[in-house]
Amino acid sequence: MGWFGSWLSSWFSFGLSYGLSLVVGLAVVLAAPLQVAAEFSLPPLPYAANGLEPSIDARTMTIHHDRHHAAYVANLNAQIPTFPSLASVDLTTLQGSISNYSPAVRNNGGGHYNHSLFWTVMAPGGQGGQPSEALGQAITAAFGSQEAMEQQFNQAAASRFGSGWAWLIVKPDGALAITSTPNQDNPLMDLPGVERGTPILALDVWEHAYYLNYQNRRPDYISAWWDVVNWKEVNSLYAAAPSTKSGL
Ligand SMILES: [Fe+2]
Repeated sequence: MGWFGSWLSSWFSFGLSYGLSLVVGLAVVLAAPLQVAAEFSLPPLPYAANGLEPSIDARTMTIHHDRHHAAYVANLNAQIPTFPSLASVDLTTLQGSISNYSPAVRNNGGGHYNHSLFWTVMAPGGQGGQPSEALGQAITAAFGSQEAMEQQFNQAAASRFGSGWAWLIVKPDGALAITSTPNQDNPLMDLPGVERGTPILALDVWEHAYYLNYQNRRPDYISAWWDVVNWKEVNSLYAAAPSTKSGL
């Protein structure tokens, strides 16, 4: 075999081993999802990343969804080997029994639920509609007026020290209330000190939700956020809440 023959032979064996590696690698990649199926998955944003501008900029939305929310999902799934029951529990149901789990499940399970809700209660400006008649009446009954409700909500969001969330909830007696929680806790969690109820509106006041555009001006972020509230979704959540008459 001359130099050309040996050159050809070496390339042939290289190609064969490389090809085999590709086949084996592909098989591993295809088989892997069957073995480590993630029980929780990242929902896509229901609008374009720039859909909430100018209230929330596209870069913030992309980082918030693609990195922060994705990390909560990945870290929650990483807890499944430790807590196999996670593989069969619904995300909302999980919140109500969170005291049975580790801080990692509480933080990441809360983060996954909270952000999944947060994306849906926002919509591009002008597309969110208005509170329904039923929700409007409940708001008036609980707070006196829409404006008073928003002021109380703003206060809860602005005064949450450090990281956390502001919520409009339907209490077990069917009345509306505003509350806030630290970190990734939420009003569904069976934890001491939590004012419990069904969340129908949520606002993320972690710095990662606004810092790129608003820096330390959290009140400006809160004020601009009302322009992108998806009242149509809030109306649906109110109607579906277990303790509202319309949800029975
Ligand atoms: Fe967040």
